[in-house]
Amino acid sequence: MNANELAIEVRGLTHRYERSAGFAVEALDFEVRRGEIVGLLGPNGAGKTTTLHTVLGLLAPTAGVVRVFGRSPLLERMQVLGRINFASVDVHLPSNLLVEECLYIFSNLYGVSYRSERIRNLVERFDLKALRRQRVGSLSSGEHMRLKICKALLNSPELLILDEPTLSLDPYMAHRVRSLLKEIQSERQISILHTSHNMREVESFCDRILFLHHGRKIAEGPPSEVLARSKSRNLDELFIRVAVSGDIFDAG
Ligand SMILES: Nc1ncnc2c1ncn2[C@@H]1O[C@H](COP(=O)(O)OP(=O)(O)O)[C@@H](O)[C@H]1O
Ligand SMILES: [Mg+2]
Repeated sequence: MNANELAIEVRGLTHRYERSAGFAVEALDFEVRRGEIVGLLGPNGAGKTTTLHTVLGLLAPTAGVVRVFGRSPLLERMQVLGRINFASVDVHLPSNLLVEECLYIFSNLYGVSYRSERIRNLVERFDLKALRRQRVGSLSSGEHMRLKICKALLNSPELLILDEPTLSLDPYMAHRVRSLLKEIQSERQISILHTSHNMREVESFCDRILFLHHGRKIAEGPPSEVLARSKSRNLDELFIRVAVSGDIFDAG
């Protein structure tokens, strides 16, 4: 991979769902560079999941261009999917499988080499060893999320897309998962694009944040810079200001 290659390039991205009056995402521009952790923030309905789904090639944009490693996730699906992976709080793994079976099946689908070794390593890192013989459907939401992140790392992705990865985790587990993701990110220089409502998480975890409101980008930059520009004391305050007024710059 070329060091200057962009993991994600989004230009003028616009999406309107069928039978929907307004735009879910409108004229959005952003990039994610190699090795960068970018947080996508915004109130409920801001367009975060829609944006992630267009990057994954699950949705065709109404207008605009999405490139992942320089390729179209819609037209060059196989080349793109081989280099990325995804975990979401809303997408569940098959409930009737055992944890171990689930990881074997996905590693088979992904064509992972040294499968047993890879699965053992991830299961240990994500504290899933004691749950290997448990059914996916019987996991707590936090355990299920850890399994989803494990599954998303099976193919050693260069880009990881995470939709609210720590929402269902207790504060300790959320901290563990962030530390593990940071560790993996620095070992292999992977890029991470994730959504979150946890402002403290975003401050410590992200190199850069993008704030969406009604499908439009209203702020972008390193968390400390965005805070300074908005004259907010912290990201919680900034978040509330955005949700209430749709602007980060008006006096609070
Ligand atoms: N399948 C859909 N059909 C119609 N409208 C949708 C659909 N999915 C999302 N929307 C609408 O698009 C907007 C953005 O949603 P979403 O991307 O899920 O926001 P977020 O992830 O930031 O909460 C919302 O107004 C939502 O109601
Ligand atoms: Mg969402």
